[in-house]
Amino acid sequence: MSKIQLLRELEKKIIADTSLPLRESNLVFGEGNVDCSVTFVGEGPGFYEDRLMRPFVGRAGKLLDELIRSIGWKREDVYITNIIKRRPPDNRDPLPEEIAAYSPYLTHQIEIINPQVIAPLGRFSMNYFLPEAKIMRDQGNVFRIDGRIIVPLIHPAAALRSTGVLEMLKRSFKKLPDIVSGKSGTEESKIPPARAAEEKSKKQARLF
Ligand code: URA
Repeated sequence: MSKIQLLRELEKKIIADTSLPLRESNLVFGEGNVDCSVTFVGEGPGFYEDRLMRPFVGRAGKLLDELIRSIGWKREDVYITNIIKRRPPDNRDPLPEEIAAYSPYLTHQIEIINPQVIAPLGRFSMNYFLPEAKIMRDQGNVFRIDGRIIVPLIHPAAALRSTGVLEMLKRSFKKLPDIVSGKSGTEESKIPPARAAEEKSKKQARLF
């Protein structure tokens, strides 16, 4: 089966899964180039995303589009999705149990697309991949998890609220082409604290 067919099957499974939370909202599965190098993963759909059933089509989405264009790419070159696939009421933060409920579907979606780089947008998405990371400390840094590169980025909605934060996001975004082409990010394999702690305890265990 092609990636597109596999993703269609996965979408059907989400639709059929009556145990999922937030079923009163529309499904925003994700869209883009299934053969992309970079997949952006946001938090969850907002008002416009719910209406149009497409990710990042509101103000934050317009900024994301601009940022993608600013590095010479097109929105159609990348894949865009969210950790939770349906809008929480009043755009509230996703609850841990909502993230957990949609997690197997996101995992499968990423396995199918198999991107070289995942760019989580915002802290919820970043912490999904890097539980111990801190957004202002770790945004724009390169992490390697299970053979994939993770580059957490500030959520575009947060960048819309502050020019300083927007500049930070722009600077980090500009690193993406070199990370994809392997010109940067290869030498510095920064280990996130959770993994670092795990490695340390493994080393210590080997000492005894
Ligand atoms: N914010 C997100 O995290 N995701 C969207 O799809 C839109 C806004």
